[in-house]
Amino acid sequence: MPLDNETLIGVIGAGAMGSGIAQVAAAAGHRVVLGDAAQGATQRAQAKIGKAMDREVAKARMSRNAADEVLSRVEYQWEPLGDDLSAFRHCGLVIEAVVEDIEIKRSIFRRLEGAVSGDAVLATNTSSLSITSLAAACQRSDRVIGLHFFNPAPVMPLVEVVPWVGSDPLVASSAYALMQRWRKTPVLASDTPGFIVNRIARPYYGEAIRMLEERVADVATIDWAMTELGGFRMGPFELMDFIGNDVNFAVTRSVFEAFFYEPRYRPSLTQQRLVEAGFLGKKSGRGYYDYREGVARPEPNRERNLGSLIVERILAMLINEAVDAVFINVASPADIDLAMTSGVNYPKGLLAWANEIGLERVLGWLDRLHGEYGEDRYRPSPLLRRMVRDGRRFFE
Ligand SMILES: NC(=O)c1ccc[n+]([C@@H]2O[C@H](COP(=O)([O-])OP(=O)(O)OC[C@H]3O[C@@H](n4cnc5c(N)ncnc54)[C@H](O)[C@@H]3O)[C@@H](O)[C@H]2O)c1
Repeated sequence: MPLDNETLIGVIGAGAMGSGIAQVAAAAGHRVVLGDAAQGATQRAQAKIGKAMDREVAKARMSRNAADEVLSRVEYQWEPLGDDLSAFRHCGLVIEAVVEDIEIKRSIFRRLEGAVSGDAVLATNTSSLSITSLAAACQRSDRVIGLHFFNPAPVMPLVEVVPWVGSDPLVASSAYALMQRWRKTPVLASDTPGFIVNRIARPYYGEAIRMLEERVADVATIDWAMTELGGFRMGPFELMDFIGNDVNFAVTRSVFEAFFYEPRYRPSLTQQRLVEAGFLGKKSGRGYYDYREGVARPEPNRERNLGSLIVERILAMLINEAVDAVFINVASPADIDLAMTSGVNYPKGLLAWANEIGLERVLGWLDRLHGEYGEDRYRPSPLLRRMVRDGRRFFE
């Protein structure tokens, strides 16, 4: 069970995430076994990791020798994986990063148990499925844990470490320590839909679309306000177009359903129509913006008052999510702030930001929205109200 530098790491699924995770593990000094069910997938992963190492050498971040050593530590399964997963039999930790399909993942976990030793740790990189539902497929389910990396895994520091109620605490602590040794930024999250980041970030998209629908402002103006005044790296519409509206809509929908139709996470028809229209964003040439040749980017309305109103409304909703996540113990305040700054590059942790603005002021914004709309999605978290009542601040 102890995970150390000698632990052989298995990665199942050699797509965008699996190849990145294999690279991270090899760069941290582990030997890695990488396999995939599709013909040619590990060959593509090898080429990708090779190119990534070439870039490291070109940028003088690594010597050619060191890069070659990293490359030599990955053992690729050239033949597509079938039912037999014995290639992973000596692994002390296997990270599953196959398609987001519960039945496929469950079947892998079941078969893995037949292949690996009794105390090997089994991790999943799932973004939206419950770790508990995957653990339930296993005999020795106490060794199952979520290790949620962000894309691209070699670049993004955050890893959400997600134990389920039956995880052995030692598995969680050793996985956490291992992520630190891999120079990642681990945070501990409870097994709840979207974990930390994909839950708390919902209003960044949802409230922006809502303002667009209400014609508070257009796409370019909302993006300008969030980047220029709010300090976010990308505006919500630019970001959705970059992620892909189909992908973003699917995540929103899955979080909404997993929370038993909580109105705060309700998907929007505007986004659904874009998906139906095939306006998926950058990858399809059209989304909220038009990326076709010769089409000019619309100019924002740079009116400061309007911009501040936009930032306040989205920020109020984001902070409310972060506070509520503390309220129901999704993670610690420190981990929540760390997750949003290192997982999605927020300019500040939302709870520290709330302190800075003043909790009373944030509560005022939310109360005003709630009063005006009468919708549940705007209700302030009870913790925010309590903290204002008791004159408390976060991290004190
Ligand atoms: N892409 C992201 O931004 C991101 C971020 C965090 C987590 N994730 C999660 O990581 C996982 C993988 O996502 P991805 O983006 O790398 O997908 P991907 O489509 O790039 O790769 C998935 C790979 O799994 C392989 N596969 C499918 N069934 C298999 C099986 N039975 N056995 C072995 N391999 C199989 C496919 O051939 C493919 O190569 C998903 O659970 C996803 O939710 C994705």
